Amino acid sequence: MNKGLFITFEGADGCGKTTQINLLAEYLKNKGETVVLTREPGGKGLGEKVREILLNYQGPVSDRCESFLFLADRAQNIDITVAPAVEKGEIVLCDRHIDSTVAYQGYGRGLDIDRINMLNNIATNGKKPDLTFVFDIDVETSMKRVGKEKDRLESAGIEFHNRVRKGYLELAKQEPQRIKVIDATKSIEDIHKDVINIFENVISSNKKL
Ligand code: TYD
Repeated sequence: MNKGLFITFEGADGCGKTTQINLLAEYLKNKGETVVLTREPGGKGLGEKVREILLNYQGPVSDRCESFLFLADRAQNIDITVAPAVEKGEIVLCDRHIDSTVAYQGYGRGLDIDRINMLNNIATNGKKPDLTFVFDIDVETSMKRVGKEKDRLESAGIEFHNRVRKGYLELAKQEPQRIKVIDATKSIEDIHKDVINIFENVISSNKKL
């Protein structure tokens, strides 16, 4: 997996990732690149079924079961969508990936982070994204944006979401080359400019395009 590019987008629920993914996709398509959009959970096919369980299942879900469902979906997304596209030289933009599991199940739910890293490694065949954006936003603002209709994860409470945010910032400190933090309280246009600047600096200087 080293011909194209694999870029992931991370952050709290309601941080505006999806808007930014679409804007970057448009920018790249205008440059003549072939862009593949995917998301976790729920790339396509089976992934959509796993997503439905993860977000909407009403009964009890153990933290370990939840982790394995995210990881199963990830393995499927890597094998079916991400790896083949990158192999063809395409640019894959993925809404959430390994860092979500570290932030939500590790920092948020309190599961052992070394174990999550090991399981992530199995789910991805050891391939990390070339670049990851973390859209950072305070929990109060992000929850306001999500609104009243919350899914299972969004309903997990303020303390949980504060731990998730802390987790993302910690990850960015540990891997500053790969993970870039962007202030997600700025305007959509300003955030897009930040995304493009970082993309051009990091990727072009690595001469991957
Ligand atoms: P989604 O509707 O895709 O949220 P968003 O639009 O904010 O990305 O829901 C995905 C939810 O699943 C989100 O609350 C984060 C959570 N999640 C985890 O807890 N662990 C994971 O590994 C992944 C990929 C997502």
